[in-house]
Amino acid sequence: MAASDAELYEHTYPSPELEARHPFEELRFERLEPEVMSRRAHDFYALMDKRRSPRMFASDPVPAELIELAVATASTAPSGAHKQPWRFVAVQDPDVKAKIRAAAEDEERVNYLENRMNEEWQEALAPLGTDHHKEFLEVAPWLVVLFEERYEVRPDGERRKNYYVKESTGIAAGVFITALHNMGLATLTHTPSPMAFLTKVLGRPENERPFVLFPIGYPLPGVKVPTLRRKSLEEVLVTVS
Ligand SMILES: Cc1cc2nc3c(=O)[nH]c(=O)nc-3n(C[C@H](O)[C@H](O)[C@H](O)COP(=O)(O)O)c2cc1C
Repeated sequence: MAASDAELYEHTYPSPELEARHPFEELRFERLEPEVMSRRAHDFYALMDKRRSPRMFASDPVPAELIELAVATASTAPSGAHKQPWRFVAVQDPDVKAKIRAAAEDEERVNYLENRMNEEWQEALAPLGTDHHKEFLEVAPWLVVLFEERYEVRPDGERRKNYYVKESTGIAAGVFITALHNMGLATLTHTPSPMAFLTKVLGRPENERPFVLFPIGYPLPGVKVPTLRRKSLEEVLVTVS
């Protein structure tokens, strides 16, 4: 940073008036050497490029601590007005997993066998070959259901608005998936829609809406995944210089 960069700011943040009313602290930020940045960027890309969504999991147990750390990491995500409008429900109980599987299969049977999904959608899914069988929901050691908190209910019962709920919860979901992959676990982003059954089975309050159901564990050894091509950088990046 050039020493004079601060002079480019006519309006400082926080203003003295703001800081007099709300607490602020100095950002902890370490600038890295360019070579270190480049190496970390390449390494992280290589790691994330190996992430895939398996649809058959091993039943091997996974310590609760790892799930807790993944949720804690996800909860570092930015959120509209710092409302953190998400709730993760981690399920290990075999009876609850069985209920979730049965309800998910009921919904997916209508989607796949009774044409609730239109033709275009079915065509898009054809290469994945997904269907209404969801055994993995019972086999995977953990199911984590991510709920978006549509509005906040304070302890005294007062309701407060949350902002950018879907964007915020989506970002938290991305961080969660990344954290799991980084610790050597696998997950499938699963949306057996409509997902209202998850609110009921898990006894969640009215202000929470299911966002994604994540089976988590190790992939079944030898499991196959569809051969997919990811878009090239040119297809996803437009640079304006
Ligand atoms: C919002 C969202 C919903 C998804 N829902 C399902 C689902 O219900 N069932 C499923 O098998 N895969 C589902 N997927 C997984 C995608 O099919 C998968 O991410 C995609 O094919 C790319 O494969 P990869 O994750 O292995 O890179 C979903 C993914 C996202 C992001």
